[in-house]
Amino acid sequence: MCGIVAYVGPNQAYPILIKGLYRLEYRGYDSAGIAILDKDIKLYKTKGKVADLDNFVKDKDVTGTIGIAHTRWATHGEPNNANAHPHFSNSKKLAIIHNGIIENYSTLREELITRGYIFCSNTDTEVLVHLIEDIQIHENVNLMEAVQLALNQVIGAYAIVIISKDDPDLLIAARKGSPLVIGIGENETFVASDATPIVEYTRNVVYLDDEEIAIIRRNQELKIKTIKNIDKTPYIHKLEINLSALEKGGFDHFMLKEIYEQPRSIGDCMRGRLNVEKGIVSLGGILDYIEKIKNANRIIIIACGTSWHAGLVGEYLFEELARIPVEVEYASEFRYRNPVIYEDDVVIAISQSGETADTLAAIELAKSKGATIIGICNVVGSSIPRATHAGTYTHAGPEIGVASTKAFTAQVTILTLMALMLADKKGSISKSRFHQIINELEKIPSKVEETLKVNDEIIRIAKIFKDSRNFLYLGRGLNFPVALEGALKLKEISYIHAEGYPAAEMKHGPIALIDEKMPVVVIATNQGVYEKIISNIEEVKARKGIIIAIVTEGDKSVRNIADYVIEVPDTDELLAPLLATIPLQLLSYHIAVMRGCSIDQPRNLAKSVTVE
Ligand code: G6P
Repeated sequence: MCGIVAYVGPNQAYPILIKGLYRLEYRGYDSAGIAILDKDIKLYKTKGKVADLDNFVKDKDVTGTIGIAHTRWATHGEPNNANAHPHFSNSKKLAIIHNGIIENYSTLREELITRGYIFCSNTDTEVLVHLIEDIQIHENVNLMEAVQLALNQVIGAYAIVIISKDDPDLLIAARKGSPLVIGIGENETFVASDATPIVEYTRNVVYLDDEEIAIIRRNQELKIKTIKNIDKTPYIHKLEINLSALEKGGFDHFMLKEIYEQPRSIGDCMRGRLNVEKGIVSLGGILDYIEKIKNANRIIIIACGTSWHAGLVGEYLFEELARIPVEVEYASEFRYRNPVIYEDDVVIAISQSGETADTLAAIELAKSKGATIIGICNVVGSSIPRATHAGTYTHAGPEIGVASTKAFTAQVTILTLMALMLADKKGSISKSRFHQIINELEKIPSKVEETLKVNDEIIRIAKIFKDSRNFLYLGRGLNFPVALEGALKLKEISYIHAEGYPAAEMKHGPIALIDEKMPVVVIATNQGVYEKIISNIEEVKARKGIIIAIVTEGDKSVRNIADYVIEVPDTDELLAPLLATIPLQLLSYHIAVMRGCSIDQPRNLAKSVTVE
């Protein structure tokens, strides 16, 4: 979390930096700041969003062609002006921005205080800038060398950029654990947490690797060294982001736009991978590893948040179709509990951003124990695809709303393709069943389009329940993860407490919560356990709970007992999550809009969680 952006070149830095911050705001938005180097370093920062910073500097001098900027998601120190980045060194000759956590900051801070350094914030970041200044003074080294020496003392994660009053043509950037992309333009260079602030100026980018330092000097070629002083050759990648994907395109919010993009994003995800006529499912990125996955002792899926929910859907699919045992783990738990991992285990890491710190650490752990690691990521060139043995991109396009929508359905689509590909290779599925599923899968984009027509009905239901204090979401089988995801969406953006539960487990606890004020969203599409879920609905009704049911079109049984019914098109039972999720995304969206919540930037959240 936290977004960082920097610029050096012939143009005024401020407009580029502030626009970059708006693009990166999904990464954190509790405070923001900017430092522009002209003769002096002019540093402005404020609590609040990027727009507050933009307002704050309106009458200030922001002239200059080199600068750094930051939008914050607080880890150490509350969101206030002092803790906002950039941070000055004591001489005010250096200014730094940082994304990550310096874990040994308190030891370093104590040492620096005894050496006379005065701290102006409660952040872990500030130790870095004082440490670098201290090294520069006492070791008599240049800024790059001082950064190198400082980073060798640091434990933790960082993406940093530093400017120095004494060297007004130089940006020093470095990373470990947190992402950093360098954009190479015509006589200008950009640095950012991801490519979105860069893409409109240049398509040539270099992704910095862990423990690498970029030396970016005006009108000179980019140089990269490691913190151990080994020279590296910058490798230039071409960006393929479509600029319009970064705009709202007529929608009120990115989240709504992204919900409506799903027919296309699911289609993009399947393109070139599903050939119904020839009866082929093929994910090129994992072809070299298909034998390994097919013969895996088990598959362990690791992920966080919404991606973890997609993993749960994957568990059902892999077990049902490919008959491979699957465990789904929260990356944050997995990494700290000494898990038993064998060399013939295959770990699938799922992540929209490709940057989630816990998922990355879990990958490294599994890799060190010899497992094969496959990634499913959305952001091209992010850290997870580079840390895995092989993988596949979801191709959902940039997802900007903090609450994940189209990335989830794309992840589920990839997992479906992967399970089918494995099942076909293993022979664990009959040819006719394989064809039946792929035929249906091809129709999913148009059925999602059809499902989106429930929007008006959802608005009506949202109006009735917008002031509810609690919601329960129930589902069974493949629809259990859908219930979890529906509840998470509501919590994230409307701040209403919601719980997702396997419908049959309700009687072991949550049933005690049910009364005439409790809306219970039940996902009751056609599936093997349909009759069972009807019994669960009856149990809720017997306690005066209010049922909002998601059903397959034409359903009669649930309609007779539910209070509100939302229909989705019929499809194969295994593909139902791709449709049933859509009304739940819309329900959370409209409730949150009616409650006046910040849709794309919900409080306390960030889209890319680069701290553990
Ligand atoms: C954050 C985001 C969620 C996301 C989760 C995992 O909490 O707000 O939307 O599901 O991180 O992120 P990843 O990028 O690894 O999928």
